[in-house]
Amino acid sequence: MPDNIVVERDGAIAVIIVNRPKEMNALNLATMLELDRIIRSLEDDQSVGALIITGSGEKAFVAGADISEMADMGAMQAKEWARLGQQVFSRIENFPRPVIAAVNGYALGGGCELAMACDIRLASEKAKFGQPEVNLGIIPGFGGTQRLTRLVGKGQAKLLIFSGDIIDAQEALRIGLVDRVVSADELMVAAKALANKMIAKAPLAVSQAKLAINKGVEMDSESGYMFESEIFGMCFTTADQKEGMRAFLEKRKPVFSGQ
Ligand code: HXC
Repeated sequence: MPDNIVVERDGAIAVIIVNRPKEMNALNLATMLELDRIIRSLEDDQSVGALIITGSGEKAFVAGADISEMADMGAMQAKEWARLGQQVFSRIENFPRPVIAAVNGYALGGGCELAMACDIRLASEKAKFGQPEVNLGIIPGFGGTQRLTRLVGKGQAKLLIFSGDIIDAQEALRIGLVDRVVSADELMVAAKALANKMIAKAPLAVSQAKLAINKGVEMDSESGYMFESEIFGMCFTTADQKEGMRAFLEKRKPVFSGQ
């Protein structure tokens, strides 16, 4: 059976590669289930400090959900498909360590939604983004109406979703859909450098900061501040807080244990 998803390890980084290059890495059911299984197993693997998600080949990150599989779906099946994808992408969003999307080419429909489920989007200058679902008589269904709106605001989200326009990496950077653009050659090097930078920090602090941002943004501000202060206090129960502050005062580099 072909591997629709390939996982490569580079030190503490796990690189997840969507591997259907002939189909522009389109997500079919088998691929989505494989992705789900892999994310679950990496969650429990404490040797993994960060994930990078990318697409196989030169042209595509992920060109969306697999249209040939969706064409004859009924309403119930389509809804279940959307729910499955939403759940897998939420699992990625809530992965306890940083997740970087290294967007190497087309990130369309479900592919753009996958990138948006990651913490940070690094794009090659060749990357292209869009939610072209309206061309197919459907709407985004893996969380795009929600995540895109939160990322770029209602106006830009509606502009992309109503028009089906495909935008380049620079425009995606301008509207806040991507966080950094690099040359195609540099993409994986830059993604790994960023991942390693984060891995070198106090791991619990990074994962708790992720929690504070992800959960806090869903709350009203006052609840968000309360949640932040709870987590801030909890940091002071960790060995890494003692080590980080002691190292600063002793003018040396901290050695974090992740405890
Ligand atoms: C199935 C796909 C596909 C997709 C590409 N392919 N995208 N198959 N699902 N999403 C297949 C093509 O059919 C083709 O197969 C092969 O990949 C190469 O694609 P080409 O179109 O020949 O390449 P090119 O001309 O370079 O165009 C690339 C492209 C275009 C711009 C990415 O393929 C495209 O527009 N794809 C569809 C993008 C899209 O609409 N995505 C949103 C899907 S809906 P053959 O066999 O001919 O070689 C969605 C909903 C998510 O994502 C929510 C669900 C709940």
